[in-house]
Amino acid sequence: MKRIAILFVSVFSMGMILTSCGGGSQPASDSKTAAGGIPADIQAMMPKGEQIYKTKCVVCHQATGMGVENVFPPLANSDYLLADKSRAVAQTLNGSKMEMTVNGKKFTQEMTPQVETKEDAVAVINYVLNNFGNKGGYVTLDDVKSIEIKPRTASPAK
Ligand code: HEC
Repeated sequence: MKRIAILFVSVFSMGMILTSCGGGSQPASDSKTAAGGIPADIQAMMPKGEQIYKTKCVVCHQATGMGVENVFPPLANSDYLLADKSRAVAQTLNGSKMEMTVNGKKFTQEMTPQVETKEDAVAVINYVLNNFGNKGGYVTLDDVKSIEIKPRTASPAK
């Protein structure tokens, strides 16, 4: 799995080098933007986001991103997620325990904090935004700079 991620990154950076050689006359802003309008630094996080999704989120939100009815909300085509990408990063970092309505259905279960760093949270949310049929754009580290990482409790809440 790790090897695949590394392969992705190296194929990607080779692509970058080729693109930057070919596009010498392009303005700086163009050379930073990869296919689909997603900036290159965000694209470069995708393999890491995929790895996090497949090791952590998949258990509840499922391989399809559809979640489990009445228990785990969908990330595929989630109106709630797409409405506020920074909130999704905060929830992934700090967990969420409230009543929420996602695509017209109520969810009340708790999600515990899933990742330790903003980088990981941003990477996995960008992966989610660009998979499962989502075309929700992207979120940057700068967008979430005001989010606080809440201290983790020593023992999980009962
Ligand atoms: C143990 C099960 C579980 C795991 C693992 C889990 N989640 Fe969740 N997730 C939930 C539950 C339950 C909610 C609803 C929380 C609430 O009602 O406050 C939720 C809500 C969300 C939401 C907001 C609602 C939506 O559908 O848009 C996002 C975004 C999200 N999770 C992302 C993630 C990501 C990314 C991961 C992996 C890093 C992850 N979750 C891992 C159970 C889980």
